[in-house]
Amino acid sequence: MSKARTKFVCQSCGLESPAYYGRCPQCNTWGSLVETVEPRAPGRERRDRRIPAARPTRLTEVASAEERRQVVPLGEFNRVLGGGLVPGSLVLLGGDPGVGKSTLLLQVAGLLTPTAGRVLYVSAEESAQQIKLRADRLGVVVDDLYVVAETNLEVALDAAAAVEPGLLIIDSIQTVYLEDMTSAAGSVSQVRECTARLMQYAKPRHLPVFIVGHVTKEGAIAGPRVLEHMVDAVLYLEGERYHQYRVLRAVKNRFGSTDEVGVFTMASNGMQEVANPSEAFLQERSRDTHGSAVGVTLEGTRPILVEVQALTSTTAFGLPRRTANGFDANRLQMLVAVLSKRVGLGLGSQDIYLNIAGGLRIAEPAVDLAVVTAVASSYRERPVDPSTVVIGEVGLSGELRSVNQLERRLNEAAKLGFARAVVPAPAGRRRLPPPPGIQVVPAATAAEAIEVALVG
Ligand code: TYD
Ligand code: MG
Repeated sequence: MSKARTKFVCQSCGLESPAYYGRCPQCNTWGSLVETVEPRAPGRERRDRRIPAARPTRLTEVASAEERRQVVPLGEFNRVLGGGLVPGSLVLLGGDPGVGKSTLLLQVAGLLTPTAGRVLYVSAEESAQQIKLRADRLGVVVDDLYVVAETNLEVALDAAAAVEPGLLIIDSIQTVYLEDMTSAAGSVSQVRECTARLMQYAKPRHLPVFIVGHVTKEGAIAGPRVLEHMVDAVLYLEGERYHQYRVLRAVKNRFGSTDEVGVFTMASNGMQEVANPSEAFLQERSRDTHGSAVGVTLEGTRPILVEVQALTSTTAFGLPRRTANGFDANRLQMLVAVLSKRVGLGLGSQDIYLNIAGGLRIAEPAVDLAVVTAVASSYRERPVDPSTVVIGEVGLSGELRSVNQLERRLNEAAKLGFARAVVPAPAGRRRLPPPPGIQVVPAATAAEAIEVALVG
C-alpha cells in the first residue's frame, strides 16, 4: 500500500504547498501552514465505480436511537452524557493535566463492562502496569477490560479489531499518531487526522469512543477547534488540583442538553459522586466570621449554594492587590469599584482576596451580590447573618439586577435550611409565591442588600 501523501495548507488564505513554511508565501501570515492528509488521488477506479445516490428518508421513518443508549451506572456522569452513551458516538473528555480524566474513564470502563461487553483502553501515556496500579486502587477488577499501551493509532486499532470491544477509550488524543504524517504527535494536524481516523473506525461499527484531550493554558482543548466540531460531545472536567471537588460539564452534546453538570469528589479510591453539591460546598462554612457570604449559582439547571470568602487588609505599599480564586478577576475589580463609588467603602487602599470555597469556579453574575457582601463584611468587620443567602447581579450604578430562575435558587436555599434570602427588588415585586420556610427580602441596590445581610 502506498503511503498517504500529505500537504501543507494555509489556514488563512488556503494556499496549498508541498513543503512547510514558517510564513505563508502568499499571504505572509506566520505559522498558518498546517499539515493535511491529501485524499487519495481519484484514479480511474473511482471514476468507473458508480457512487450510489444518497436516498432521502422520511424523518418519521428514521429509527430513533434513544432506546439504544447505554446507561452508565454512575449517575452524575450519565446525566452529563444526556442520559446514556449513544452507540457510535465520539465523546471528548477535556481537562487540565492531573484533574482525573484517566481515573474517571477507568472507573466508567469498569462500570460498563457488564453492558458493553469488552472494553479496550488504549493508553498512549502510561504503561499497562501503571493502569493496573490505578485499577487496583479504584477496585476495578473486571475480566473484560483490556489495556494496550500504544501510541501508534493504527496498531491500536488493529488491537481493537482483535478484541472487538463494545467501548473504546483513547488516552490521550495528543499522544497518539498516524505514521503517514510527518508532524509530531500532538500537533494540530495529527490531532485532527487521528480523530478523523477514529471516527472512520467507530461509526460503521457503532462503537462508542471516549477520547481524552488535554487543555492548553488558554483553556481550549489543545489542537484545533475542529476537534470539538468533529466529535459528538465535548465534556470538560474542571476543578482545582489540590481541592477535592471536580465538576464535569458538557460544553457540546449532540445527544443531550449542555445544561447538566456532574459533581464528584476525588477520593483515595477515585471519583465519588456528590449527590447534594450544595451541602458539600457549604460543609466547612465559617458561620460567625467576617467576610463569608453564601450565594446561589446555577450550574445548568442545577442550583448550587456556594460560600464566597473575602479578606480585605490595608495595602502595605504601592498598588493594592486584588486576587480572585474561582472567580473572574476583572469582574472582581469592577465590583470593588462599585463598592467604592456607590456603596462608599474606602477600598482604595485595601488589598482584596476573594475565594470560592471548595475550589468551584463561578462565571455567573448572580453571585455578584455574594461577592460584594463578603467584601463589605470583611471590610466593615461585621459578619453576614448565617441563615441568609444573597442572590443578585450587581450593575455599575450599584443597582441589583434580577437573575433567572430565582424560584429554583430559593427552593434550594430553603431546602438547606436558610431562613432568609436577599433578592433583587424587581423580581421581588413580581410576587412569586416564596417557597415555604424562607423569607424573601427584596433590595433595590447593593448597598441596601448589604445592610440587610450584615449583622451587628
Ligand atoms: P489522573 O486520572 O491521572 O489525571 P489525568 O488523567 O486527568 O491527568 O489523576 C491524577 C490525580 O488524581 C493524581 O494526582 C492522583 C489523584 N488520584 C486520587 O486522588 N485518587 C485516586 O483514586 C486516583 C486513581 C488518583
Ligand atoms: Mg491521564
